[in-house]
Amino acid sequence: MTTPEFYTIKDKKFKLMIDDVIIQSRIQELADMINIDYQNKSPIFIIVLKGGMFFGIELLKKITVDCEIETLISKSYGLNMKSSGTVDLIIGSIALEDKDIIIVEDIIDTGLTMNKLKNVLNSYNPKSIKVASLLRKPDCAKIDVTVDYLGFEIEDKFVVGYGLDYAEFGRQIPAIYQHIED
Ligand code: IMP
Repeated sequence: MTTPEFYTIKDKKFKLMIDDVIIQSRIQELADMINIDYQNKSPIFIIVLKGGMFFGIELLKKITVDCEIETLISKSYGLNMKSSGTVDLIIGSIALEDKDIIIVEDIIDTGLTMNKLKNVLNSYNPKSIKVASLLRKPDCAKIDVTVDYLGFEIEDKFVVGYGLDYAEFGRQIPAIYQHIED
């Protein structure tokens, strides 16, 4: 199936930014790095829902080291296209003490979510915490967060697809699309 150039979601138009083939090959490169870095270790991947689930699944299918998988829920955008700046976290009863954590996120925008996540997860006394994110918008950073495994740096555009949503729609689109003005 060819990738469409445009999508309309509700009242907004979106244009193809990163094709699935390119995403897949970058995810393979990230998985290769993780497989080398975590040789003889047994990391726990914590997928940040809902946005991180598509990237998380594609990444994890390529991981060859023994690992565990957990999820947590984080919310910041609500129904808008601007980061709200406040973050709600819901974490399950995860045993994280002495674990090597890899947080799997869809995008780092202001960095507030990831910063909060790292602080919260640190309080569980893990051995290490690293971050894998499919996307990062460097121009939007309000706080500096190290991304150890980064897919792509993108411009300050609102994007959907690959787990990212506009008002809960568009997550299932198998490529990254950017918002365009009408
Ligand atoms: P931050 O706290 O500003 O870094 O925002 C992180 C969260 O905002 C991500 O996990 C996404 O859920 C959401 N987000 C940031 N940028 C976008 C975007 O362009 N499209 C959809 N969701 C986004």
